[in-house]
Order: sequence, then C-alpha cells, then structure tokens
Amino acid sequence: MPDLSVNYAGLRLQHPIMAASAGITATVDRMRRAEEAGASAVSVKSLFENPIPRRGDPTPHMRVIRHGRDPRSFTLYSYEQAAHMDEEAYADLILRAKAALDIPVIANIDCASPEAWARYATLVEHAGADAIEVKSCPHGEHLMTGDELSGAVRTVKGLVSIPVIAKLPSQLTNPYQSALDIHAAGADALVMFNRLVGLEIDLDTLAPIMHGGFAGHGGPHSIYYRLRWIAQVFDEMHIPICGTGGVSTVADAAKYVLAGATCVQLATAAIVEGCGAFGRIRDELAEWMDRNEHQCLGDLRGVAAGRVLGLPDVSRQQTVRAAIDPDTCTRCGLCHRVCIYEGVDEPTPGTGEAYRTNDHCRGCGLCEQLCPVEAISLLPL
Ligand SMILES: Cc1cc2nc3c(=O)[nH]c(=O)nc-3n(C[C@H](O)[C@H](O)[C@H](O)COP(=O)(O)O)c2cc1C
Repeated sequence: MPDLSVNYAGLRLQHPIMAASAGITATVDRMRRAEEAGASAVSVKSLFENPIPRRGDPTPHMRVIRHGRDPRSFTLYSYEQAAHMDEEAYADLILRAKAALDIPVIANIDCASPEAWARYATLVEHAGADAIEVKSCPHGEHLMTGDELSGAVRTVKGLVSIPVIAKLPSQLTNPYQSALDIHAAGADALVMFNRLVGLEIDLDTLAPIMHGGFAGHGGPHSIYYRLRWIAQVFDEMHIPICGTGGVSTVADAAKYVLAGATCVQLATAAIVEGCGAFGRIRDELAEWMDRNEHQCLGDLRGVAAGRVLGLPDVSRQQTVRAAIDPDTCTRCGLCHRVCIYEGVDEPTPGTGEAYRTNDHCRGCGLCEQLCPVEAISLLPL
C-alpha cells in the first residue's frame, strides 16, 4: 500500500483528497458524510462579512451545462450563497463539527474590513478550527487584489496561532507575484484557485439564466489554468499548495501532485456524483501508485513542474509530418479544410484517390486529432 499521507500546513492528512468549501460542507451532517465517504479534511462553507449572501440561495441556483456527450465535458454553473448565518452561529458550527468529526476542520472566512478579519478569525480559532482559509469571493462587487489578500493574511496571521491558508481568486493580474507576496505575508499554505464567475444567457428570454445574475462556473476543463500556475510557483514555495478546480478522476489528482500540489480539494465531483467521489479518487490514487510502483506521494510532488520548459528552451525544429493512410481515408476532406498551412492536397476528382499531405505540412498535429476515422498519423521526419 503506497503512502498517501501528507502534511498540509501542519495538518497531518491520511491522503490528499479533501472536501472543498461549498454546500457539501455547510452543515455538520454533510461534513460527516464527506468524512465517512473518505474526505481527509473539510473546508467549511464560507462565512461572509457581507450580509446579503447570508440571506439564502435563489432557486434554482445550479445548472449542469453539457458540451457534448463526453461525461467530462460539462460546466457546473452555480450561484450558491455563503453560509446562511452570522459569525456566532458559524463559530457554533465549527464547534459542533469539531466534536463530530475526526478529520481536520478548516474554517473559511471572507471579509472586507480589517476588524471583521480579526473578529472572525479569533472566533473560529476559539471554536476549535484546525486552520483558517482566508479568501475573497469571486461573486463579490469588489474583487480582491493580491495585495489585499496579502494584507488579510497578515492581519489574521498576527492574531491566531492556527495555520492560515490563503485561497487565491482566479482573476489575479499576476498569480505568480500574488502567490509570492501572500507567501511572504506569512501564509502557511495556498489554495489555488477559487472558481471563475461567468455569464450564461438564455436565447429565448434574452436574459441571464437562473437567478438573473452572474454565476460561478467550473468543471473538469478548469484544471489546466490551475496546473499551470501551481507548476510555475512550485519551486518558489516553501509552503504547501492545495490544488482545487476540476478534479473528478485519479488522473486529475495525480496531475495536481505532479504540478506541485500537496493535496487537492474537490466540490463539483462530489456535487454531481455524491460524496463517494472522495473515497473513489483516494482508492484509485492508491491503485495507480501501486500499479506504477510509486511508493510515496511526496516523491511525485512537483516532478512535472521541474520538467516544464521555458520559452527559450522549447525546440522549434519540425520533428514530425502527417501521413494519411489511403485505405482508411473516407475522403471527407476535413484534414484539407482545417489545414491552415495548405499541407493537404485534395484528390483529383474522379480518380478515387485519397487526400495526401505535401511538403507544406508543418506537423502541427491538428488533422491527426480531428480525423474522424483515425486515418492520419504523425511520422518522425
Ligand atoms: C456550489 C459551489 C459552492 C461553492 N461555495 C464556496 C464557498 O462558499 N467558499 C469558497 O471558498 N469556495 C466555494 N466554492 C469553490 C470550491 O470550494 C472549489 O474551490 C471550486 O469549486 C473548485 O473545485 P471543483 O472544480 O471541484 O468544484 C464553491 C463551489 C461550488 C461548486
């Protein structure tokens, strides 16, 4: 059995698959369900200083937007509001969660004023939270900058003795610099990144869908942006990084670790599949490591980050060229239509010949990917 345990900001986790802050962690029962299903820690649904999101959720507030038949091609578009409670009730929630759960319970707070950061942080620490996630809501009227988040981390860090974890928003001007600044402000770990907020429009009503406003969106596709920035900052970080966004398979979790994450948090997979997603991904991760003879998760952390090539180091030499198998080609002409390099010749009408690549082929690989009958391969030059 490979060793999946991780040290996350001083918290000893049995494995890296955590429950992200969302409705799935808004009550003690739901947090316990996540624990029983295999989550190694929970980040509790956010407490906001802003009273408007505490009023409750509009209905409906979740839409699964499918982008084809591939089950991984979807967006979870949602407008779920903050914890529906004030800070005293939230502190009580943390207290009860701590009494009911064996795994670490991480409070998640979102404030605008330094007074509220200080008050909420102190309250949740006294309630027994194992750590605090400091975050900025992507739905808010004011989108927090990296500097403001650094300031919040500094304020909270100066007041509490439990680990302070910064959850970065996706829409930072320079995520690399913000991560360095937040690290320097004293964060004990980074969560990268919260979701993006977008807009979906109904073409019948000509208006935004659901509640009529902007909404969070994410899905398996959202992993790439996060992997990139985690890999980019990994080398500079002396604190753990928790990846969040798009994890629904063991491959996703493994990629986060290879990019440099110590652990991952998931919400969407647990929402659309049920809490079983936590234990499933944990077990699949152990099997994957066993199968590939990886003994220890820590040995894999950041391996791919170390192999990312910088701009000057990427080879620009053409190494492959597309070749079309005339026996498999159905003459649909897609390769010819999509080739911007004019690297595919049309057959002479009436001859029954197949499409053929020519010397203009740049080996970009697009036709090989798009050919509906897999008649195209890339051959080394
Ligand atoms: C329905 C829903 C509600 C969420 N609510 C919160 C929240 O209150 N606080 C927060 O920090 N993140 C919140 N998130 C973001 C998640 O914690 C997580 O970072 C994000 O969804 C990316 O992971 P995923 O792709 O597994 O969903 C929410 C996400 C979803 C889908």
